[in-house]
Amino acid sequence: MQYADLIIETHGRVAVIRLNRPKALNALNDNMMNELGDALYKFDADSNIGCIILTGSEKAFAAGADIAAMAKYDYTDTYGGNYIGRNWEHILNVRKPVIGAVAGYVLGGGCELAMMCDFLIAADSAKFGQPEIKVGVTPGAGGTQRLPRTIGKSKAMDMLLTTRMIDAAEAERTGLVSRVVAADKLMEEAIAVATTISAMPLSVAMQIKDSVNRAFETTLTEGVRYERRYFHAGFGTPAQKEGMSAFLEKRAPKFDGL
Ligand code: CAA
Repeated sequence: MQYADLIIETHGRVAVIRLNRPKALNALNDNMMNELGDALYKFDADSNIGCIILTGSEKAFAAGADIAAMAKYDYTDTYGGNYIGRNWEHILNVRKPVIGAVAGYVLGGGCELAMMCDFLIAADSAKFGQPEIKVGVTPGAGGTQRLPRTIGKSKAMDMLLTTRMIDAAEAERTGLVSRVVAADKLMEEAIAVATTISAMPLSVAMQIKDSVNRAFETTLTEGVRYERRYFHAGFGTPAQKEGMSAFLEKRAPKFDGL
């Protein structure tokens, strides 16, 4: 896959998608978001891939939506053209696990895109913020919705209203990221984590992802009912036969992309 604004690599069953507009600190423009959707869908459909990493550069995961491109938009361009809606949310349709591996600036739309990943591993250099108010708009890709659900109302309001950036340690404390690692170890760690996930049965990983995401959209009772259907259905799959046989036979399970 060749793209103008992305760099693509694979490491065994792990795909790495790197945002690559270094001169603009990976500001997210239409072309990059179209390419990102394309790459995500291709890896989601590729049976050789079990987990996807989305990353940026050491300086910036992404410093937000591209202000230079956006500045000239009017209401017809944004509402009429479905700006953000038209190409930013493909990532939410991806059924395989997507890890965000973030370093440097994770701002505005960059923070919102990061929050659309399944979980985040942060370099100790990472700085998270929602500075949209300073350019005269509210966040447009879920910042006012996903941030308070993730870190709580008080800290989210603080970040959104003052534009205060939080560092990786505070992001870990608040649950925005799952792990913090030294900046020079970020990709090594992310690939190791993704390799662990991609050795698990993919069908179960996808069921877990779907069920966890359901938790944010439904009641507890309905969510547990939803989960229980997958649990029961699991007993009709080779993954369950292999996983439980391996345990009883005291050997490591071999899922081989099941
Ligand atoms: N859009 C377009 N270009 C951007 C950009 C953005 N979001 N962020 C940085 N750049 C560009 C700069 O214009 C600059 O380009 P030039 O060299 O051609 O001038 C280059 O990247 C390097 O940036 P700086 O010189 O500003 O670097 P710095 O180290 O001094 O500052 C920064 C870094 C604090 C991240 C600063 O660039 C900044 O504040 N960027 C904007 C952050 C922002 O407001 N993001 C929210 C955007 S709105 C949004 O995302 C809407 C939404 O919810 C969907």
